[in-house]
Amino acid sequence: DMTGKRTFRVWRGGGDGDLTTYEVEVNEGEVVLDVLHRLQATQAPDLAVRWNCKAGKCGSCSVEINGRPKLACMTRMSTFAPGETVSVTPMRTFPVIRDLVCDVSYNYAKAREIPSFTPDPATAPGDFRMRQEDVQRSQEFRKCIECFLCQNVCHVIRDHEENKENFSGPRFLMRVAELEMHPEDTADRRMISQDEFGLGYCNITKCCTEVCPEHIKITDNALIPMKERVAGRRYDPVVWLGSKIGLR
Ligand code: SF4
Ligand code: F3S
Ligand code: FES
Repeated sequence: DMTGKRTFRVWRGGGDGDLTTYEVEVNEGEVVLDVLHRLQATQAPDLAVRWNCKAGKCGSCSVEINGRPKLACMTRMSTFAPGETVSVTPMRTFPVIRDLVCDVSYNYAKAREIPSFTPDPATAPGDFRMRQEDVQRSQEFRKCIECFLCQNVCHVIRDHEENKENFSGPRFLMRVAELEMHPEDTADRRMISQDEFGLGYCNITKCCTEVCPEHIKITDNALIPMKERVAGRRYDPVVWLGSKIGLR
């Protein structure tokens, strides 16, 4: 039975804020977001927390719970040990606006840098036939709800502000890979994935994949295949020669 008082420690304030301790009622079947809402209703009416769907689909409620990146609406209170204190902090990789709300504009800036889908203009709309395996690959990547938990957890930028300029993060490298592997896309995204979006910074630690609430195999299905394509482009001498004399 999960009902009863529970100790919550919640980040209050901006980047220089601190944890505030609350004793709060928890009922059977609740998730962390329910308890944050109860705090707002009872003890902390000005607590800032972003949320929208309460169903794991909008990607708004990303926070760190006991140091682990999670969706607050999908983290059941029953997953904690009896009496365990629950600490809720904002995502560490992005600037804190207030309390649990971060400024995630880094992610939108990175999204805008990616050249958009570039089909062959000679192909009439509706004429292109895609193989089922190509459709399925795109569908997996398109499950992304843009919660940015993968971006938050990746060590390349988590404690390295200086890498943000040159690294788009797993979510957007996955987008580049999706377009690169799309049979109808004619743009060559291999060189820019490395030179502009920082694919080379990724050393395949797979933390991004571990935290993805949509269980997208970001590393295995997007980042590693993209690295293989880049390596083929850079180091295969026949490909290199072909590109020099205009065969490709
Ligand atoms: Fe979130 Fe997964 Fe999308 Fe990353 S890839 S933003 S973890 S849904
Ligand atoms: Fe970062 Fe994921 Fe690569 S966590 S290092 S992008 S495998
Ligand atoms: Fe929408 Fe949690 S409120 S994902």
